[in-house]
Amino acid sequence: MAASEVDEAKLEEFVGQAVTDMGAAMNAVLVMVGDDLGLWKAMAGAGPVTAGELAGSTGVRERYVREWLSAQAASGYVEYDADSETFSLTPEQAMVFADEDSPVFLTGGLHVVSSLYRDRQRIAERFRDGEGFGWHEHDPELFAGTEQFFRPGYKAHLVSDWIPALDGVEEKLRRGAKVADVGCGYGASTMVMAEAFPESEFHGFDYHDESIEHSRETAEKVGATNAEFEVATAKDFPGDGYDLVCFFDCLHDMGDPVGALRHVRDRVSDDGSVMLVEPFANESLSENMNPVGRIFYAASTMVCTPSSLDQEVGLGLGAQAGEGRLGDVAREAGFSQFNRATETPFNLILEARI
Ligand SMILES: C[S@@+](CC[C@H](N)C(=O)[O-])C[C@H]1O[C@@H](n2cnc3c(N)ncnc32)[C@H](O)[C@@H]1O
Repeated sequence: MAASEVDEAKLEEFVGQAVTDMGAAMNAVLVMVGDDLGLWKAMAGAGPVTAGELAGSTGVRERYVREWLSAQAASGYVEYDADSETFSLTPEQAMVFADEDSPVFLTGGLHVVSSLYRDRQRIAERFRDGEGFGWHEHDPELFAGTEQFFRPGYKAHLVSDWIPALDGVEEKLRRGAKVADVGCGYGASTMVMAEAFPESEFHGFDYHDESIEHSRETAEKVGATNAEFEVATAKDFPGDGYDLVCFFDCLHDMGDPVGALRHVRDRVSDDGSVMLVEPFANESLSENMNPVGRIFYAASTMVCTPSSLDQEVGLGLGAQAGEGRLGDVAREAGFSQFNRATETPFNLILEARI
């Protein structure tokens, strides 16, 4: 394109956006360093601190902390008072970076990002050869980051909002029900439910043996005696008569989601429910061009689509399939009822019944 065709104002605006994004990408690693060193936690509720005071309370070197704080101030992630040369966290900033139980704690998501930078070349190769890239092939920071990113949302919504939105399920769980958590990963959702419903039994399944091993260790650590974990795929997990079968952010990662739900249809009791927790999405790309859609399309390119293409059938639903497409999958698998139970800005909570 000739230089004369460039609109200088538009160029300036677009470069501004790209530079802002580069700053976010550059600072993401510092957010994680702050998490590793306990800098965010030390600042939460501490009021204004100098770099020296923060260094003293966390046992790290003042020169490094001053530079780190400057980067956070320039990012708008901490407040800076030039007169007193102090830095502080607002309650909102603390919720996002210092409190790992807050529903908006985002550092886990940055660990996911970090893992994907390490997998870049291997996944670029899959663009060329068309092969898949399984969940198990990823840099392990993805597994822990996913758990850290999703757990706060499960703690905030699963028991209080999502299960009550399903048809008669909460009552069954209180009395004592049998639940499968398919594609459970590190078992964050399984553990949240097991703690809330001690009369019920929870069976976590995942094809990834390291994740199952990790889930077992966590269950043992927290004393979750009503949760057990087993290596199994969504198409061959054992047991039947389940009152509830859950898929948390994983149905779209599977190569054969129709086959998986057909297997579930044979395993769930006649009046049982299937809960699909999927990334929030509208029905089309045009409607998903927003900050949340942006994150999910990127994750879908690097994780979800390659994961599905790595498995039999290789449907490649993608993380932004949307309710309509997911409903088609459920109906093809033999479920006659399908509806949106509820939603959050990040999740669609869908229910299928026979
Ligand atoms: C994005 S992670 C979600 C993990 C967990 N449900 C959570 O919410 O934290 C997707 C999970 O699906 C699992 N998975 C993918 N395909 C699977 C299959 N065919 N059968 C069982 N698990 C599968 C992966 O191993 C991974 O643990």
